[in-house]
Amino acid sequence: TSTSTVTIRGATHPTQKPWFNVPKNIVAKTSRRLHLQNDHPIAITRQIIQANFPQPTYKYYNEYSPVVTTKQNFDSLGFPVDHPGRALTDTYYLNEKLLLRTHTSAHQADTFRANESDGYLISADVYRRDAIDRSHYPIFHQMEGARSWDRNKVPNGDIAAAVMEDIERLPKHDVVVEDPNPPMHPERNPLQEAHHSAAEAEALGKHLKRSLENMVVDIFTRAKAAAIKDDPDFVDEPLRMRWVEAYFPFTSPSWELEVYYAGDWLEVLGCGVVKQELYINANVPSQVGWAFGIGIDRIAMLLFKIPDIRLFWSEDERFLSQFTGVSASLDTLKPFVPFSKHPPSPRDVSFWIRSTSPAGGNDKAVFHENDVMELVRSIGGDEVESVSLIDEFVHPKTGRKSVAYRIVYRHLERTLTGAETNAIHERVRKALVDRLGGELR
Ligand code: PHE
Repeated sequence: TSTSTVTIRGATHPTQKPWFNVPKNIVAKTSRRLHLQNDHPIAITRQIIQANFPQPTYKYYNEYSPVVTTKQNFDSLGFPVDHPGRALTDTYYLNEKLLLRTHTSAHQADTFRANESDGYLISADVYRRDAIDRSHYPIFHQMEGARSWDRNKVPNGDIAAAVMEDIERLPKHDVVVEDPNPPMHPERNPLQEAHHSAAEAEALGKHLKRSLENMVVDIFTRAKAAAIKDDPDFVDEPLRMRWVEAYFPFTSPSWELEVYYAGDWLEVLGCGVVKQELYINANVPSQVGWAFGIGIDRIAMLLFKIPDIRLFWSEDERFLSQFTGVSASLDTLKPFVPFSKHPPSPRDVSFWIRSTSPAGGNDKAVFHENDVMELVRSIGGDEVESVSLIDEFVHPKTGRKSVAYRIVYRHLERTLTGAETNAIHERVRKALVDRLGGELR
């Protein structure tokens, strides 16, 4: 038995091999709570989303701890036992049962069970082991939302009529929305026949789509107003949105909403009609409804024109002071003005990979790139801007494999000297060899 522990937001938990895989730099950041930090762009973006889902219809939950059970994060939502998201290479575990939530949906079951309002919003920090670049960071923020109706409380038990009536009360918008797919897909997204009539599912889908379109229109209208304030010559394209069929184990039917922005279709949120098993297991079987989840960081990057996701974690006044007063008065939002950009310092490293898993345990993967990403981040810190695979080589005789990565170091707040970069890189190289590798090539 192990006596090691880790303390996260004041609560101490036992850690267990081989599950425990949370590096110190991540543990340290669990207490930052950027979504609650007044005048922080993440908190401001949360407030803008909240403004579109008013109390008391929607109750706000912003304090849930990031430590959740595998049941909360996966089982309660119908994730199969072999779902790749459960792997040690993708998720931060404390022990066999506890992990750092990978999405705010981890709180759906508990919030439905609490049954404190018709709807809810949950904002929180979420954790995923992933690649490193300017829009990916192992911690980001999500907002979850849901709206439910109770068969025993709507007039005549008529859910479809009650939902249609609520749709009439929603604000209207005049943005073109493409929605070419049929609402259901026989395998991926069937009508939940045992629980909804087609008319009910259709009404729920309509209420969900209108509510989320309104939120996205509001966000992008604010982004445009800020951009124009900043640059009166700013020429905008009209906003376009489209619904795309999607799959989530806990909704059916399911969709993603995409927005046409700067020449690209951008996925902004996932959503769907809540699978009835969630309500049944939460002891509120007479309720039906919809849920969505949106990533806050990417939206904040667009709203404020923030070029690098690491900036959210900066404690530099040149960053933070630019948003002073915006939490109290959301209309004063204006784009971020980058402080002078310091030069990048790329360095390459290549090494042979060992043929057994560094993580061990239930993880069958022999070598996973996320292990490289994380080692580089935990040694190199936020001075690492990106890590990319530049070469792979399999020895024709021995079958051994070697990989080469380019690591771009760039401090957000000052210029790194060559000697400083070399010193960091040397530690990174050594860690890669010690913990993942065979030897350097
Ligand atoms: N949790 C999902 C994700 O992180 C998003 C989602 C939330 C989808 C709620 C449907 C309903 O991708």
